[in-house]
Amino acid sequence: MILYFSATGNTRFVATELAKCLEDEALDLCSKIKQHDYGTIRSDKPFVFCAPTYVCEAPAFFYDFLRKVDLAGSRDVYMVSTSGGYSGISGNIARAVIRKKHMNYKGCAEFKMPPNYIANKSHRLPDRAEIEKRITDTYNKIKPVAEIIRSGKQLRYRHIWILEKLIDYPSNPVLSRIGHRVRGFYAADSCISCGLCEKKCPLNIISMRDGKPQWNGRMCAHCMACIQNCPVEAIEYKDITNGRKRYRCDDYRQDISRTTE
Ligand SMILES: Cc1cc2nc3c(=O)[nH]c(=O)nc-3n(C[C@H](O)[C@H](O)[C@H](O)COP(=O)(O)O)c2cc1C
Ligand code: SF4
Ligand code: SF4
Repeated sequence: MILYFSATGNTRFVATELAKCLEDEALDLCSKIKQHDYGTIRSDKPFVFCAPTYVCEAPAFFYDFLRKVDLAGSRDVYMVSTSGGYSGISGNIARAVIRKKHMNYKGCAEFKMPPNYIANKSHRLPDRAEIEKRITDTYNKIKPVAEIIRSGKQLRYRHIWILEKLIDYPSNPVLSRIGHRVRGFYAADSCISCGLCEKKCPLNIISMRDGKPQWNGRMCAHCMACIQNCPVEAIEYKDITNGRKRYRCDDYRQDISRTTE
C-alpha cells in the first residue's frame, strides 16, 4: 500500500502513478494525520511511504505518524521522497524510524519535482517548460522504481556523505524553528469562505471564524497547502507572496500523462 502526504500534489502524483504500476492502493494520510488516527493499516503488499522534503527531511509530522501508526501484514517498508532537487537525509531518518518499528527498511527513491516553497524569499518557480520537464522525468522514473518494489528488491539509495550528515541533521530543527512561523499568514478580502484551507492543513492550525480563516499557534510545518490551494489565491505570507505565481502539480500533470503514454 502506498501511503502519502502531499501539500501541492507532487507527492500525490508520484504516489498515484506508483499505485497504478503496482496495482495497489494509494492512501492520502492527511485526514489520519489531522485526526491523530494511528489505528491499524493492513497491507499484504509492501508499504511505500511517500513524502515531500522540508529542509532536507520529510516533514516532522510525517515521521511522527510513521512512528506511531500500527502497520499489519507486510513487514517491508519503502520510502519515496519528492523535493525541489535535494531530498537530504529523508531516507536515513525513515530507515531509523522503520528499524525501530522492527520492520524491514527497503531503501528510498528520490524524485526531483518543481519547488513549492512560495513563502521562502529565495523561492523561484521555474517556467512551464521546466515544470513539465521535471514532471515528465519523474513520470518516466516511476515505472523502474515500481519494478524494483514489485520484485521485493532493495531500492538503491544514494550515498550520504559524512559532511552532508553533519550539515543536514542540525539544519532541519534549527531552520524550521527560525523560519516556520505562523505569524505572517493572512487572508485578503477576496476570501470566499470555502473552508478549504482549514480542511487542507495537516496540523489543524487554521480555524474558520466568522467565515474567515484564522491561523493559530506560533509555528507550523510551512507545508504551503493552505496558500497554494486557495481557489481564489486570497492567502498571503507577509509581503513575500504578493504577486507570486501559485503552484499545484495537478495544473500540469494532465498534459504530462497524455504526452508520454
Ligand atoms: C517548508 C519547505 C521546505 C522545503 N525544503 C526543501 C529542501 O530542503 N530541498 C528541496 O529540494 N526542496 C524543498 N522543498 C520543496 C518540496 O520538497 C517539493 O516541492 C515537494 O515536491 C513538494 O511536494 P508536495 O507537492 O507533495 O507537497 C521545500 C518545500 C517546503 C514547503
Ligand atoms: S481557501 Fe481561500 S477562499 Fe477558502 S476559506 Fe481559505 S482563504 Fe478563504
Ligand atoms: S498553516 Fe498552512 S502552511 Fe502551515 S501547516 Fe497549515 S496548511 Fe501548512
